[in-house]
Amino acid sequence: MTKDWPALVERAERTHRLTEEELASLLAEPATEEAMALAADRVRAAFVGDAVHLRGLIEFSSFCRRNCHYCGLRRENEKAGRYRLTPEEIVALAEKARGYGYHTVVLQSGEDGWFTAERLADVIRAVKRLDVAVTLSVGERPIGDYRAWRDAGADRFLLRIETTDRALYERLHPGMSYDERRRCLRDLKRLGYEVGTGCLVGLPGQTIDSLARDVLFFQAIDADMVGIGPLVPNEDTPLKGAPPGDMGLVRRMVAAIRLLLPEANIPATTAMETLSPGARERILRSGANVVMPNVTEGEARRLYALYPGKACVADTPEECRFCMAARVKALGRFIGADKGFRRRRANPAPPEKTAAGD
Ligand code: 5AD
Ligand code: SF4
Ligand code: FES
Repeated sequence: MTKDWPALVERAERTHRLTEEELASLLAEPATEEAMALAADRVRAAFVGDAVHLRGLIEFSSFCRRNCHYCGLRRENEKAGRYRLTPEEIVALAEKARGYGYHTVVLQSGEDGWFTAERLADVIRAVKRLDVAVTLSVGERPIGDYRAWRDAGADRFLLRIETTDRALYERLHPGMSYDERRRCLRDLKRLGYEVGTGCLVGLPGQTIDSLARDVLFFQAIDADMVGIGPLVPNEDTPLKGAPPGDMGLVRRMVAAIRLLLPEANIPATTAMETLSPGARERILRSGANVVMPNVTEGEARRLYALYPGKACVADTPEECRFCMAARVKALGRFIGADKGFRRRRANPAPPEKTAAGD
């Protein structure tokens, strides 16, 4: 590599700016990993502090109208066991999440049309009475649905762009459009949601340059949260046989995201832990500040199978709660006592316009 990478890491830590070329050169070089992780950990401590925010994840429906090439819930996967929790069951799980001390409930599902705007709005209103933040992760919808849910009290929305490589995006998501994905993210921002996005690392055909552009995209849209994860190949999908995502590259990506988006909430994700036990702690020391413990119970917990071997699938929500408390404490950090909204510094420098942004 041609660049003097320690100087690049030092400058990224100081200015939170890198060019696409500079980012790509860091991501491509495994030797940068420890220095990037250490710098990202310092930026994390300075901008978002030592709190680790726990978000209780409720996987409320495994029905999905989409056919994403990597995902076990894709509609053509006949082996996937489908379930749908009732609104009452969802609210009951949210109450339990509140009881475990979680201050955010994430309502996640496949793209399931049974949950009309009105049905999900009713669930949101009931969950909001518990004094928790509500994050939705239910995919693409018309702006009217997003507005109805925001009016019902939803605070945040997760919608990964998955990849900013338009051709790759459209290859892996049959019948979906990159522009429509971007439309959703724009609408969500305009409606005042905290918006989370992110990408998969290790998609067949994905390049380091495109990952660098992913990071610049997160910066350009001023993402409030960025969740990424390695591809975990699923035998029941077209991506069976693909190699799993490289956890070293995932760690460099997390560090790069923290360096360039110092205020963002960044989770250590289940897919990371699935591929590499202990990854959650390693990633929490490399820039991340959020974990999303699963509070789904019983059969549903097993059936929500985006990929095989999902971490914690055999544990109970209660076990995960105690387990995470101990792990966070062992890191010398503490569990966030508030809802963990994005903290904004006074007068943040606006992110530069890039080709990826709008
Ligand atoms: N491996 C890793 N992550 C996956 N997702 C879906 N399938 C897989 C897989 N096989 C991720 C997608 C989606 C999120 C909910 O789960 O990025 O946005
Ligand atoms: Fe459905 Fe989401 Fe899986 Fe795609 S990634 S098939 S939209 S659940
Ligand atoms: Fe689930 Fe440790 S967090 S068992």
